[in-house]
Amino acid sequence: MKVLVVGGGGREHAIVQKLRQSPRVSQLYALPGNGGMASDATLVPIGAKDIDAMVAFAREKGIDFVVVAPDDPLALGAVDALKQAGIACFGPDKKAAEIESSKVFAKRLMKKYGIPTAAFEVFDDEAQALAYLDTAPIPTVIKADGLALGKGVTLAYTREEAQAAVHAMMGERVFGESGARILIEEMLEGPEVSVLAFADGKTVVPMVSAMDHKRALDGDLGPNTGGMGVVAPNPFYTPEVASQCMDTIFRPTIEAMAAEGRPFRGCLYFGLMLTRQGPRVIEYNCRFGDPETQAVLPLLEGDLLDIMEATAEGRLADVPVRFSDRACCCVVLASQGYPGKYQTGFPLLLPAPRKDVSVFVAGAKLEGGRLVTSGGRVVGVSALADTLGEAVDLAYRAAQDVAFDNKYCRKDIGARALAATKGGATPW
Ligand code: AMP
Ligand code: GLY
Repeated sequence: MKVLVVGGGGREHAIVQKLRQSPRVSQLYALPGNGGMASDATLVPIGAKDIDAMVAFAREKGIDFVVVAPDDPLALGAVDALKQAGIACFGPDKKAAEIESSKVFAKRLMKKYGIPTAAFEVFDDEAQALAYLDTAPIPTVIKADGLALGKGVTLAYTREEAQAAVHAMMGERVFGESGARILIEEMLEGPEVSVLAFADGKTVVPMVSAMDHKRALDGDLGPNTGGMGVVAPNPFYTPEVASQCMDTIFRPTIEAMAAEGRPFRGCLYFGLMLTRQGPRVIEYNCRFGDPETQAVLPLLEGDLLDIMEATAEGRLADVPVRFSDRACCCVVLASQGYPGKYQTGFPLLLPAPRKDVSVFVAGAKLEGGRLVTSGGRVVGVSALADTLGEAVDLAYRAAQDVAFDNKYCRKDIGARALAATKGGATPW
């Protein structure tokens, strides 16, 4: 089969590497991919948001199956357009993708169907939002409704911070039209867990749980990033919590989307917070997480193409989805300065393949036949081992063999998880 993966980051590289293991894949394309994937897939120089060109390319090459990985093309209706052209694909259609692209839609869905989440109010008028803040409980959380490159959330610990965030979003429109409507939410407390799940509209099959590390600096300090590293499984996500999530969150969400006439087919990402009162949904994403995927897919046993096809065709209940009981740690190597200003264009050297280690390139391009850095997050190094501690050690050792000039990584990926497995970290 000819398979096309849409997207160009570390997540897409992890998907490409897993699909390459499928004996049924004869040819793999990445659109646009990145230079670091060139040995695993044929790169297609078309932007992931250029849906017309994407459909034309898939038609021309006779692509059998498309995996649409990033949120932007999903929100723009890439899956609707591909299906209309008769091309099979993995990913939610535009109506189902709204579970991520509109936070207000997602919160109203949860309220209507009794899915546990933080209490919230919606505002489309700045004066009303500010008036509400006069008496709202503090701390609080301010969120832009639409997509804002992961930056549309302010955790406000004082009333002044909350007011400033509302004004920036609604008055100054720092996130453009994404800030025309905002949410003001109750602030929750507890460890966060990312659970990616295959969903075919009726059946939901969670993957192994993961713990992202969103802040730029050690000790969970510094600005939020796209994610600086991941461990899987997440030790806070016990079998009891998993079964509670299945009953109160995963199945009800899939049923709610079906009841709303928006059956969700693809990968649904549950961003959860384990509060004292039980698991709560912080956010949904309509796609695989980045960098969660780089730690979750290496643990998947079996054929990803089989699972994705079954998901797209509503046959998920009939295919086995199994995960190894080992652990995986992904350390992200970024350009010094990320998520702020940083330099790119440095030669990138990758280590030779070795057992239990995968290298996923997120931000590099080919220049005159050699790889140079081209992004904030450059490479993710994922290591598998029997224990989390060994996986963390192996990932950091392998990360030393990745070379570029302004390389930066957090030194404490997995530290909190390791403390938890040793009983040294309580959730609250
Ligand atoms: P989001 O963009 O929705 O993923 O939010 C970014 C981060 O803000 C989350 O990963 C949480 O750490 C934090 N966050 C969002 N909503 C809440 C909330 N209601 N209470 C506490 N933290 C939150
Ligand atoms: N790692 C967070 C996300 O993919 O949204």
